[in-house]
Amino acid sequence: MAYINDNYQKLKAGYLFPEIARRVREFSAATPSAKIIRLGIGDVTEPLPAACIKAMHTGLDEMSSRETFKGYGPEQGYDFLRDAIATNDFKQRGIDISADEIFVSDGSKCDTGNILDIFGMKNKVAVLDPVYPVYVDTNVMVGRTGAADAQGRYDGLVYLPVTAENDFTPELPQEKVDLIYLCYPNNPTGMVASREMLKKWVDYAKANNAIIFYDAAYEAYITEPNVPRSIFEIEGAKDVAIEFRSFSKTAGFTGTRCAFTVIPKGLTAKNDKGEDVSLHALWTRRPSTRFNGVPYIIQRGAEAVYSPEGQLQVQELIRFYLTNAKLLREGLEKVGIRVYGGVNAPYIWLKTPGNTTSWDFFDQLLNKAHLVGTPGSGFGAAGEGYFRLSAFNSRANIEEAVKRFQAVVGG
Ligand code: MLT
Repeated sequence: MAYINDNYQKLKAGYLFPEIARRVREFSAATPSAKIIRLGIGDVTEPLPAACIKAMHTGLDEMSSRETFKGYGPEQGYDFLRDAIATNDFKQRGIDISADEIFVSDGSKCDTGNILDIFGMKNKVAVLDPVYPVYVDTNVMVGRTGAADAQGRYDGLVYLPVTAENDFTPELPQEKVDLIYLCYPNNPTGMVASREMLKKWVDYAKANNAIIFYDAAYEAYITEPNVPRSIFEIEGAKDVAIEFRSFSKTAGFTGTRCAFTVIPKGLTAKNDKGEDVSLHALWTRRPSTRFNGVPYIIQRGAEAVYSPEGQLQVQELIRFYLTNAKLLREGLEKVGIRVYGGVNAPYIWLKTPGNTTSWDFFDQLLNKAHLVGTPGSGFGAAGEGYFRLSAFNSRANIEEAVKRFQAVVGG
């Protein structure tokens, strides 16, 4: 007899984005003439930067000759990429992270889920609400939660609401927690964390021997000065934090896959005997068993992000999406919608008009304007009454989306 992992049956029907895709497919089948504009899943639309493409071509050429061919690479990433990341993303910004503290991977989504492998089941986990659903669902899958209540909150997790009422600033948990997920710039709200706020969390983690999982996948979108780009800018963070970064939204690698996780060498957690164990050592061990590394060609492409021309091209790409975000923000505000985010992030978080629920607003936009967004309640109970729009799209689609949105909401 074979048995399943029963925890999977606790999961809500579908992962949020496939569920949206299913509804859109149904609508399309029933209304084939509708020209749907998708501002739901945050997936990039513009081509890879030219510097990355050139480097990938060169990498491919190397694969075509016996002398330069590469088979299995180092599971933690090639030194050329780890060095480029350490230098450009950290050292040049005055942050003391070394190349061997960087683990190259195929995605932050994967890493924020996989990281649970090296943490025990006794840990109490805190997440913001609304939250990127992967943090919650992966904890459900490994069995760290009970069942979900009617609002979709799982027993055993600590939820920290972030809404307009608290200015999207989470309170420290009332009870002691061991693992804390923070994502800044935030998905889904598009809001950022101040230095003071992160310091408060680092101090909390220190006082409670907790670890912060800091997801900085949208760091490249920070435009305002003084907004921290890495948790390691905060004093003491190297003792309490793991940071996740990605080339997906920075350089258009959502389909190409390349990201990295930073685990400081001094970071520890306790074993059952109460002894300190290096998390860096455990995480080094894990990919050695479960992963063969990101393809060489892709890592060469990621390295090119840090070349002078790559940097210019990436900045242009980000400016493009941020201009989209600005157009969405301003267009929505014109028809009286309360809008958050979109300044340091590619996401607009809006308050649905009247008392419309998030899913009702989703249906209304889809049916009347042929626009797809993401219902806030899909990110958590505290997201009810909110709605997320992604700025990842062509300029023409964004402009058209604003017009359609205004026609539906503005009457
Ligand atoms: C999102 O839309 O929230 C993101 O695309 C999800 C992801 O990066 O996995």
